Parts: sequence; structure tokens; C-alpha cells
Amino acid sequence: EKGGFPSFMDKEIHDQPQAVADTLRGRFGLDGRLQLSEMTIDETILKSVDKIVVIACGTAAYAGQVAKYAIEHWCRIPTEVELAHEFRYRDPVVTEKTLVVAISQSGETMDTVMAVRHAREQGAKVIAICNTFGSTIPRESDGVLYTHAGPEIAVASTKAFLSQVVACYLLGLYLAQLRGNKYNDEIQLILSELETIPGKIERILEGTKQQITDFAIRHKDEQSVLFLGRHVGYPVAMEGALKLKELAYIHAEGFAAGELKHGPIALIDEGQMVIIVVPSSRGRDSLHAKVLSNIQEVRARGANAVVIAEEGETEVEEFASEVFYVPETTTLLAPLLATVPLQIFAMELATAKDLDVDQPRNLAKSVTVE
Ligand code: F6R
Repeated sequence: EKGGFPSFMDKEIHDQPQAVADTLRGRFGLDGRLQLSEMTIDETILKSVDKIVVIACGTAAYAGQVAKYAIEHWCRIPTEVELAHEFRYRDPVVTEKTLVVAISQSGETMDTVMAVRHAREQGAKVIAICNTFGSTIPRESDGVLYTHAGPEIAVASTKAFLSQVVACYLLGLYLAQLRGNKYNDEIQLILSELETIPGKIERILEGTKQQITDFAIRHKDEQSVLFLGRHVGYPVAMEGALKLKELAYIHAEGFAAGELKHGPIALIDEGQMVIIVVPSSRGRDSLHAKVLSNIQEVRARGANAVVIAEEGETEVEEFASEVFYVPETTTLLAPLLATVPLQIFAMELATAKDLDVDQPRNLAKSVTVE
């Protein structure tokens, strides 16, 4: 059932092109417009939403952070992301005009279930983004958008994360279409870029996986790894750090690259591994230039700078000890590609340490206690 792979996680990483394609499939009506068939919340309600709050835990919360960048950009609806267990135990401002988006692979995470109940008690509408048909969270929500990643067996989430991110984009585009924030041809352009993602993930798996594996083996004794990213690269950095902690039991932290000079730069000395997610080079905006200068900053302090960058960005080679190239896409969609090398890195490093990547210590696939 591992499909010839040494672990479920390895198989699930390779399932990702299919998971992304399946989550995109069947979302278009005959008129070419985006349709979310399980979206049972009334259109007039969705049109009047004045705030979105995404609630989730762990990896699913990082998918939510990517959603915030996309939804605010496309729909101009203020969007917050909150860990479900924090949301639940404070007194958040939630009204009938708040749309709560609960993201959960299992649909059974008790912290998220309790947060959904808390939101609905206050009159908010809740949409679940979920991978498990008929589970508690979609059953208790007002609408659902199922991710079609297929069963995820390995404890560490991989394909479910990518399909959660895709579902968030679909929700954002749907709201933009409904509320008239975007013209249909703009939406179509983003959707056709999304359609290219499965093939691009395939290219990472075929072209870069071996390089990452060799690199992970060489670095199996690393004690601490820092991850830096900006914009949507920031949640990618945090997801990379989480994967490394849970699988390889290595201290890891993800930072917003701009935060470096406000403290974390003190951690950097000779040989410290820093993995930097370089944003999309399309347009070569100030975001891109800022991250390049972050690479130089850590490098100047002796860090071992490892870079995830788009193909063709050969200028980073001058500052990096290792570059993992991913295919080019637009800024907002880049997490679907940049995350993949980080998943492989964590898995291969844990494998090199002889750890069980499918069943890391102290963790359960679905956390059904608060
Ligand atoms: C990390 C991981 C966890 C889950 C979190 C939420 O690899 O798997 O952080 O993402 O426990 O689980 P779900 O999505 O089932 O609610």
C-alpha cells in the first residue's frame, strides 16, 4: 500500500501532483465560471461578509496563513488567521458578518471542533476545508470545501497541506468572482496557472529530490536549523521548520525574514544552517531584492545559507552553499512548489538518522483531545 516507496510519507509526497489536480478538478461550471458545489452558504450572505477568520492547528494553520495573503489580495476582505485553541479561549470579535474558515485534514481535531462551535454560537458562518468526508468539522459547519488529497497515513502532513492551500485559493477566487473584485479573465488566468502546478511538482520530484537527499544525508548531525521567508514564503518557512522538528527531532524555527534584524540574527554564527525561501522572481520586485539581501546578511555572519529559488536565479549561487531550484510560478502560488523541497529535506534527514518518518515519537495523526 506504500506503492513501492519506503514510507507512507515518501508515497504521499509523490502523491502531491495528483492531490493538487484532484482538488482543482470539477470546480468549473459550463459557463467557465468557478463553482464550489458543496458551498451551501447563501450567496447573499457571502457577499456581505466583512471579515474572514481562519482557524486551524499546526500545518493546517500555515495553509491558513497562505490563504490570508491570497484572500486579502484578491477579495479585499480583512482576513485573520488564528490557532484554533487560542481563538477558542479568548473573546474574539465575531459577528453574523464574519466568515470562519476551519481547515483540518482529519476533520476531528478537537481544538478546531471546539473553535467551530464557539464561532457558530456567536452567529458566524463556518466553512470547513477538510480532507475527510463526513467527519465532525464538516458536519458541524455551514458549508464545506473538500480537499481531494486521498487518505493521508503518515503523521506529518504533506499532500493534505498542498491541497488545503489549493482549496484556500479556490475559496478566495470564488469570493472574488461572487463579489466582483476580479474580472473573469483575471480569475481564469490564475486558474490556468494553478493547472500547471502538478506538472511543476513532478519536475521537483524528478529533478531535485536526489540532490536534497544527498544534502540531507551530509547534514544529518545538524543541531539547529533556521528557516527564513517573506510574504507567502513566511508560512512556508514555518512549515519547513515544523516538518524538521517533528520528523528529525532537530531544533528548528521559521522566521519572517524581515524580523531577522529585530533579534534572531543574534543566533547566527559560523556554520549555522539557514534555509531561505526566495520569493518568485516574476517582476523582480522589492520583495525579491529584500530576500537576496537577507541571504547576504546571514552569509556575512558565517551562516551556511541554503536557498530555495526559482529556476534561472543563478545569481543566488554566489551567496549560497546549496541551492534547490523549483519551477517558476506567480508569487501567491509559490508555496505549492517551495514547500516540497522542505518536506523532502525533513523526511530524508530523519531517514538518515534512522528514525521512523511515518510515526514520529509523541505524535498522533489526529489530535482528538483538547
Ligand atoms: C504536522 C501535522 C499537524 C496537523 C495538525 C492539524 O505535520 O500534521 O500539525 O496539521 O495537528 O491536524 P488536522 O489538519 O487534522 O486538523
